[in-house]
Amino acid sequence: MRVAIAGSSGLIGTALAARLREDGHRVLRLVRRPARGDDEIPWSPATDHLDGAHLDGVDAVVNLCGVGIGDRRWTGARKQLIRDSRVEPTGVIARAAAAAGVPALINAGAVGYYGDTGDHVVDESSPAGSGFLAGVCVDWEGAARGAADAGVRVVTCRSGVVLAPRGGMLAPLKRLYSLGLGGRLGNGHQYMSWVSLDDQIRAIMFLLRNPEARGPVNITGPAPVTNTQFNAALGRRLHRPTPWIVPSPALRAVLGEFASEGVLTGQRAIPRELERLGFAFRHATIGQALDAAV
Ligand SMILES: NC(=O)c1ccc[n+]([C@@H]2O[C@H](COP(=O)([O-])OP(=O)(O)OC[C@H]3O[C@@H](n4cnc5c(N)ncnc54)[C@H](OP(=O)(O)O)[C@@H]3O)[C@@H](O)[C@H]2O)c1
Repeated sequence: MRVAIAGSSGLIGTALAARLREDGHRVLRLVRRPARGDDEIPWSPATDHLDGAHLDGVDAVVNLCGVGIGDRRWTGARKQLIRDSRVEPTGVIARAAAAAGVPALINAGAVGYYGDTGDHVVDESSPAGSGFLAGVCVDWEGAARGAADAGVRVVTCRSGVVLAPRGGMLAPLKRLYSLGLGGRLGNGHQYMSWVSLDDQIRAIMFLLRNPEARGPVNITGPAPVTNTQFNAALGRRLHRPTPWIVPSPALRAVLGEFASEGVLTGQRAIPRELERLGFAFRHATIGQALDAAV
């Protein structure tokens, strides 16, 4: 396959490009600067520019672009950037993929789509939730779906938190927990949908190859956990006690609105569509995923 990747320099993109190359596929990186070789395609999401001719002969585009969601305090400007680095760039890619007749577009997205689900289990048939992040996810998916009208097979991924050996959300937590500073966030009842980096990449490869896959697909391990369960599991892996409780007001003071939407609330999403399509997780429990990542 010839696969073009936007956001290829990030956590998921780097691992995906490596896995595709290992498996003998050709990777073309969409770069937000002039191209430096024939495996790079220049694009400018900010000025709505991607020459569809560069996508001629490409079998699929994987779109992973967007600034980090949880790595900075949510100010008005940061929220705008979270939206602007996803929705319009995805529209640019969808239009170029449609114009070039690319067979498939696999688009990143998040379980934040469902908003705060409490302990209610949600799958791909569940409605969108409310809040800033859910709104961004809805518009992000809508921008990708534009290509479906032109016959592109569009998969809109809804990923849980990716647990990786290096980088992502686990990196700062590992440092804190190693210092004995691990603990529950708020009341600890909020659910977290997670997926190991390995399964995230395997799922994207599976969706690339499977012509039946289209529409929303949750990429989350089959057993989401509460924050209390996650905290205990990470403490066990790192052989550290996790005695602390970080109170909600402190989290809100430090993280702003992200605390309410991304830390003190969560999603209990299950991978109904991946399971229907026959995908087998390598890391099906939080313990297995953390063993692979820690
Ligand atoms: N990691 C997770 O836990 C997780 C969970 C759910 C959903 N997702 C979503 O999956 C996608 C990939 O995740 P990731 O963890 O690999 O993210 P990442 O490490 O933050 O990488 C995202 C990439 O997006 C590109 N980018 C940065 N700023 C941009 C901008 N202003 N406009 C357009 N592109 C920009 C960059 O790639 P280039 O410099 O190569 O363009 C960057 O490397 C993201 O959309 C993320 O929201 C991730």
